[in-house]
Amino acid sequence: MSMFLREVALEAIGTDVALWQELEGDVGCVVWDAAIVLTKFLEVNSLKTGTDAGKCLIKGRTVLELGSGTGCVGLAAAIMGASKVTITDLPEFLGLMEKNIVENQERLGCPVEARELSWGNEQQMRQFPFPDVVLVADCIYYEQSLEPLVSTLHKICSPDTIVLLSYEERTTGNKPQLQKKFFELMEEHFCNEKIALEEQHELFRCEDIHIYKFSRR
Ligand SMILES: C[S@@+](CC[C@H](N)C(=O)[O-])C[C@H]1O[C@@H](n2cnc3c(N)ncnc32)[C@H](O)[C@@H]1O
Repeated sequence: MSMFLREVALEAIGTDVALWQELEGDVGCVVWDAAIVLTKFLEVNSLKTGTDAGKCLIKGRTVLELGSGTGCVGLAAAIMGASKVTITDLPEFLGLMEKNIVENQERLGCPVEARELSWGNEQQMRQFPFPDVVLVADCIYYEQSLEPLVSTLHKICSPDTIVLLSYEERTTGNKPQLQKKFFELMEEHFCNEKIALEEQHELFRCEDIHIYKFSRR
């Protein structure tokens, strides 16, 4: 399988996150734009200091990423001060996630592990302690996994967990209906708050990529 290395710069922190991607394969084998936008929002957010320091979403927090693919957002969180990070995906992505953990090993500020978590798999979900933060980038994508994704979020979140979710608004096929249905399903268990564009990275933000913060009702 042909692979190439992509570096996502974290200039404000003085490093980058390096990600092996594959030239061919399923959607998880490349970094998606919604992952870059969420990563760069976390970078801006991690710079808060003084009276705003309490608004840092990642520093000192345990983090679980769902549908990580290459692991971009979770690995960046580990570079930005999380206390422990678990990146997860379907079993076929374990090798890629592990390769990317090794590639970034010297930059990671906390333990990071790659684990299988197939949405809706109750037995797997029970193996994860409640995290402080759940990260989800570009996973509102598949009709058949919409309900399993929402039920997974419901079960792995405590009342104190926050979910940071980014997605690209797509206008083709059934994508608009899927996105609408996702928010309807989430509404039952979570309140949400949209992260304003002004709070995001001034270059890596975009009108049709949205970031939401969810917390349990
Ligand atoms: C569009 S990709 C996004 C990957 C990565 N978050 C990013 O933004 O670069 C969607 C990801 O969801 C994962 N995924 C899809 N269905 C899943 C399921 N049922 N359980 C767990 N992960 C799933 C895919 O394997 C893929 O990595």
